[in-house]
Amino acid sequence: MSSPRFASQVALITGAASGIGLATAHRLHAEGAHVVLVDRSREPLVAAVAELGERAEAAPGDVADADAMAAIVTDAAARLGRLDVVVAAAGVDQCDTVVGTTLSQWRTIMDVDLDGVFHVCRAAIPVLVRQGSGAIVTISSAIGTVGERNRSAYCAAKSGVENLTRAMALDHGRDGVRANCVAPGLIDTPLIRNGKVGGGTNPAAMQAMVDAHHAIPRIGQPEEVAAAIAFLASRDASFITGAVLPVDAGWTAA
Ligand SMILES: NC(=O)c1ccc[n+]([C@@H]2O[C@H](COP(=O)([O-])OP(=O)(O)OC[C@H]3O[C@@H](n4cnc5c(N)ncnc54)[C@H](O)[C@@H]3O)[C@@H](O)[C@H]2O)c1
Repeated sequence: MSSPRFASQVALITGAASGIGLATAHRLHAEGAHVVLVDRSREPLVAAVAELGERAEAAPGDVADADAMAAIVTDAAARLGRLDVVVAAAGVDQCDTVVGTTLSQWRTIMDVDLDGVFHVCRAAIPVLVRQGSGAIVTISSAIGTVGERNRSAYCAAKSGVENLTRAMALDHGRDGVRANCVAPGLIDTPLIRNGKVGGGTNPAAMQAMVDAHHAIPRIGQPEEVAAAIAFLASRDASFITGAVLPVDAGWTAA
């Protein structure tokens, strides 16, 4: 029997209080990792850590704040003695055309969805390089790979995340650091359920969106994305870097 894939490893996950980030924290923890959960929503973050129990800790912080991310990463690596996996899952949604998007809405999406990934990776990569090993997994979207109506800033930010991931993979492959990205389709999380995409709380509108985009005719579950993230972060993906893996029920196969 081989050891659990993340035994003795430390994983830091942003956006870990909800949805895909939370499911990823559970998956990596179940496979042996010590997990550091980063999120700006304190109450759900504390509840998530309490549910996980041992080998789990909360690090409240905003990914848009470069100094806060640097402090969280530095502190975790120093206290825990290592950092093996970084999952940048924090994100916010946006629905509008370029003309309908205010400058401040554009900035918010960029600050969180693109700069947030940059901040956590910029803080973590020197630790991984010093260690000579590490895996980064970022989260784009099917609409980071292809365009979509009424999602201008989100499309732009997620496309940026995909190519940022490729750039990091090229820059740090020789340092023992891998960087990959998952690009989900519609996944059943509060981001979708409470938002405007696919009708939000309207089941018929949601199903119409699923039918229009997914070859597998249902909404995805956060655990299905977490499984792909865990794969890319694990030794099973030891020869994979710079990849954008669709977890989108066939959306981008069309
Ligand atoms: N749900 C989908 O259909 C879907 C599809 C494609 C991509 N994604 C991406 O997956 C990622 C996770 O989304 P989700 O669906 O799980 O959403 P979610 O809303 O369930 O979870 C997102 C988490 O990120 C946190 N967060 C948001 N802004 C933050 C900030 N500035 N600093 C720290 N934490 C912050 C939120 O508090 C929340 O806990 C996002 O990057 C999202 O864009 C989601």
